[in-house]
Amino acid sequence: MPADPILGPVLFTAAQIRRRVRQLAAQISRVYGDQEVRLVTVLKGGVFFLTDLARELTCPVTLDFLAISSYGPGIQSGEVRLTKDLDESIVDRHVLIVEDVVDTGLTLAYIRRVLQQRQPASLRICILFDRPYRRLVDLPIDFVGFELPDRFVVGYGLDYRQRYRNLRAVHFVRSEALPTPELP
Ligand code: PRP
Repeated sequence: MPADPILGPVLFTAAQIRRRVRQLAAQISRVYGDQEVRLVTVLKGGVFFLTDLARELTCPVTLDFLAISSYGPGIQSGEVRLTKDLDESIVDRHVLIVEDVVDTGLTLAYIRRVLQQRQPASLRICILFDRPYRRLVDLPIDFVGFELPDRFVVGYGLDYRQRYRNLRAVHFVRSEALPTPELP
């Protein structure tokens, strides 16, 4: 089979990711003990991390999902809306938002604000991949897996045109495969 023209070298192997997810799960399990935690994930990228993390947690777990879209000039405008709300109330629940990646922080800041208004018993954030140097808003993150370099990467939930999310490893995308940015 010919090599995929998009996929470059591996940044994080499947084994490295598995190990880090186990470490995060141990940390999270210690925080919640035998309290039930509601894992809330934003579709679609966070789903792969969610399912692996959930299986490693020792505290009782329930799941719920959100979907959002940005409109107008994009999420940087702060114009975000929920396209799928949670199925269940989170009043008095311990809620952990589970996300694959945070860049500007605008998505999570919006979600955190919305969920905080619903009076959960506690609200924490766990992300697998972080680009802290791209942050535009201050965001308290309780659990972080890896820092990503400022490069286009795919796999383990991260997509290129909706593909490659299902890869077990995270790969760099070959720069020559990306469209050339238009000159001003
Ligand atoms: C990713 C990620 C966050 C958002 C983070 O989602 O899952 O939701 O980007 O970016 P921010 O910190 O700059 O707001 P994406 O829009 O790629 O959708 P996906 O989850 O369907 O891949």
